Amino acid sequence: MTGNTVRMVPSLLSADFGRLADQIAMVEAGGADWLHVDVMDGCFVPNLTYGAKIIETCRRLTKLPLDVHLMVLEPEKYFESFAKSGASVLTIHTETAPHLHRQVMYIKELGCLAGVTMNPATPLASVSEVAGDIDLLLIMTVNPGFGGQAFIPESIDKIRRARRMLDEAGSGALLEVDGGIGRETITACWRAGADTFVAGHAIFGAADAQAEIAALRARCAESA
Ligand code: DX5
Ligand code: ZN
Repeated sequence: MTGNTVRMVPSLLSADFGRLADQIAMVEAGGADWLHVDVMDGCFVPNLTYGAKIIETCRRLTKLPLDVHLMVLEPEKYFESFAKSGASVLTIHTETAPHLHRQVMYIKELGCLAGVTMNPATPLASVSEVAGDIDLLLIMTVNPGFGGQAFIPESIDKIRRARRMLDEAGSGALLEVDGGIGRETITACWRAGADTFVAGHAIFGAADAQAEIAALRARCAESA
């Protein structure tokens, strides 16, 4: 995998769950590359969302790869059931993973891509020792827990340092960003080295979600 292509990843968190099938079909037809599924446990983050049942439902509703972001304590408890439910990527937080290398290997054994992330206040160094082993590095650009929050400007420098760290490790991992991504922030993230863009409110909150996906993608192309 290379980091040369822009991936647009709508986050279901901001979708209208009363019309889940339509909302997923809409972003799929609008050119989304992956679908982002935020799993929250009400302990690691102050919010509660969904688990295997919704992953399984999404798997039936779309062919898009499912990018599952685990904001839960003891994430390894869920790897097997999420993989069976159809997750394509499992991304865990370093704050919840005292045995990060073992957990990354476990995710890969289950046939999923292994992603690692950390909160904005957690240093990148928490992932440096496994930089060569991961398939995706996610830089959180808000404090995890809720959609629609403001992008943390200091994240740009962290993305730049993450890009350097992956390049130095000879890693082909994708570099994803999540939180407050929209027309005002995506270009700076792309220029700093991100290639995979999660956006919830910006896409599902737009009057025309499909046009928004195209507009966000164009913001990267224009500045390439
Ligand atoms: C926040 C989640 C995000 C969230 C992003 O904890 O990890 O995926 O859905 O939402 P926006 O794009 O609205 O900031
Ligand atoms: Zn997320």
